Amino acid sequence: MSPLDLAAAPPPLAATPRHPPRRAAADPPAAPCVEPDLDGDAAAAFANALPLGVRFELRDRITPIQHAFLARHGFLVFSQVARDDEVDTILAEVDRIEADLLARGERKVFGVPVWFGLDPDGHDYLFRMGFTSVHSEYLGAFVRDARFEPIRTLIGADARIGDREKDGVVFNRYVRAEQSLRPNLAWHTDALRDVFYNWKMPGPMLNIGLHFDRIRPADGGLRLVPGTHTQGPMSTLFSKIHFVSDAPDKNELAVETWPGDLTVHDGRMWHRVVASPETGWGSLRRSMYVPYVCDTYQPKSKDSATPLYMRVFDAIVRMKARSKAREQARLTSRRDR
Ligand SMILES: [Fe+2]
Repeated sequence: MSPLDLAAAPPPLAATPRHPPRRAAADPPAAPCVEPDLDGDAAAAFANALPLGVRFELRDRITPIQHAFLARHGFLVFSQVARDDEVDTILAEVDRIEADLLARGERKVFGVPVWFGLDPDGHDYLFRMGFTSVHSEYLGAFVRDARFEPIRTLIGADARIGDREKDGVVFNRYVRAEQSLRPNLAWHTDALRDVFYNWKMPGPMLNIGLHFDRIRPADGGLRLVPGTHTQGPMSTLFSKIHFVSDAPDKNELAVETWPGDLTVHDGRMWHRVVASPETGWGSLRRSMYVPYVCDTYQPKSKDSATPLYMRVFDAIVRMKARSKAREQARLTSRRDR
């Protein structure tokens, strides 16, 4: 199979997801920005005048205006990069992988825990997994499709997709139910490790996410503080407490998405994920992050140890779930008395 030929991938068995994306026909996205052909200072001036909520079209290259917007604000939203049928197929593939992992009792892939919780119907539900593309030939071909080539070269001329490196292609499905795991994620940057060890800000750390649901600001979702990707080590360490501070920031931006949107955000900026105020299936929010890697090839395998940060995170998530269950049991027994 040619790595860039999506049509050559075998068609998945099912292309109907158990929970179709919220498409909200009455609420279509704004048209992407019509970009004039500009370069240099003129492109930067045009980008600076754009509203923060602007949606771009992914073309065969990242335009000078898109580069300028990213340099200034630290993020880009590309409108509906994946088609509706592709969105459905990917979601159906994740349903299939979930069923397969559950049937085999697998709770880790290449040392990285797969997080299961309970869905609003009380069934086991996959909330987060790494290395998703390793389980799906369709997904492996999809993330290598020619349309993503400008994104790959934005990361680096020799960047590759790390299917088996770091955490691989990460799929998130958050739904808020009584036993939900980690419905939100407090403020953080991805630069903490570098700052801690080197007291120096790293270079750009671009996160590439694909989004599968219509998310309005009121639905929770990704929040960014635009422009903070250029902050220094002091601000990274002290202006908020990583993974603890969760108060709204007066400068934060809620990233609105429609199914198929692709976002680029520089992990050096402050960002967080806000839980949906709803409970039940209406709170479902799904995203997929594709790792582009430039450093030495370091593949993981089934013998890979669980990274320390994952073990700590996993322990916290489980502790939270246990204390929630205890609290629930206490309330139930009080009610029954
Ligand atoms: Fe993050």
